[in-house]
Amino acid sequence: MTEVLVTGGAGYIGSHMCVELLQAGYDVVVADNLSNSSARSLQAVQRITQKPLSFVEMDIRDEERLAALFRSHRFDAVLHFAGLKAVAESVAEPLRYYDNNVNGTLRLVEAMSSAGVKTLVFSSSATVYGTQERVPIDESAGTAPTNPYGRTKLQVEQLLHDLGDADAQWRISLLRYFNPVGAHPSGEIGEDPNDIPNNLMPYIAQVAIGRLPCLRVFGDDYATADGTGVRDYIHVVDLVNGHLRALDYLQANTGVAVHNLGSGRGHSVLEVIAAFERASGRPIAHEVVARRPGDVARSFADPGKANRELNWTATHDLERICQDAWKWQTRHPDGYRTA
Ligand code: NAD
Ligand code: UFG
Repeated sequence: MTEVLVTGGAGYIGSHMCVELLQAGYDVVVADNLSNSSARSLQAVQRITQKPLSFVEMDIRDEERLAALFRSHRFDAVLHFAGLKAVAESVAEPLRYYDNNVNGTLRLVEAMSSAGVKTLVFSSSATVYGTQERVPIDESAGTAPTNPYGRTKLQVEQLLHDLGDADAQWRISLLRYFNPVGAHPSGEIGEDPNDIPNNLMPYIAQVAIGRLPCLRVFGDDYATADGTGVRDYIHVVDLVNGHLRALDYLQANTGVAVHNLGSGRGHSVLEVIAAFERASGRPIAHEVVARRPGDVARSFADPGKANRELNWTATHDLERICQDAWKWQTRHPDGYRTA
């Protein structure tokens, strides 16, 4: 049996990853400090799959505990989700972001290196592309992140490229996510923001359920079909399946590979609102306000490289994304605080 370590496995994307890994027959160990998640997600993962996983509550910057973890298991690979991800917070608290995201990854790969575990899948982000005039965005586009969060992702990518160059035994997959949304079709795991959501889809879901009164649409004067911002929304189950394909790819390939994980389709804010209204059967109160600083008009992926090299493609459309997000929201109106 293949055993993998999932850092950040209690989080939104990591918990969905655990479901797919267990269902694909992997043994799974999660390391998470629960700084932005609940261990209830992992109980739900085990209910969905009817399979056990191991959970270690720890910070990945804790070198001693990390070394002990690698001594007590023989991991074949690490899927590294642990990190902080809020753009505005990263502007206010850059040192916390660099320490957690860059230093955390450094500690992790040092421990992996010492243990001789040299297969890694890393959660990067389309945010490394910064502001791109041309869409769709492929992996050859330049990188110029516009905020500290994005710079931590790019620095980790660079660190891992240097590591791969220095030691040909490493097998590293850098996956640049576009906009992960939706929830597991069971409705048992999903996105559970701590505060008022920053991102569109969880915000809409909370308006639909009545937790928030009204969505603010950030600008309707962009050069897009209806004037609102266009993004590439990718179902979280499609996204984590891309990681399974990346693990397969790394079995056959050494070195460092970069792949976009996106659907290749762009949807406007108004299209997402309309799709969520259909999925929920409820009107989504919204008002147009000024543009949000730093937002671009359009961002969507060219997923061709992942299609060809990972044999992966996103299969869930926006309707399905909204249906699954709504199922999670109705079953867990207060997220994991709902028993
Ligand atoms: P999340 O906050 O739900 O999950 C991250 C998990 O990592 C949490 O459970 C948190 O408790 C844990 N964690 C954070 N720092 C840790 C540390 N030092 N030690 C141990 N555990 C730690 O976020 P998510 O949406 O699931 O994102 C997962 C990864 O994907 C992150 O690296 C994020 O930057 C990246 N990503 C997310 C998005 C998105 O829109 N959700 C987009 C692009 C990239
Ligand atoms: N939007 C609104 N109102 C809101 C929230 C968002 O109109 O309350 C609009 C935005 O202006 C944008 C679109 O909805 O046009 C999507 O915004 P999100 O905040 O959901 O997503 P972003 O594309 O801005 O950013 C997300 C993550 C970043 C990541 C990026 C690419 O927040 O961390 O996707 O992966 F880098």
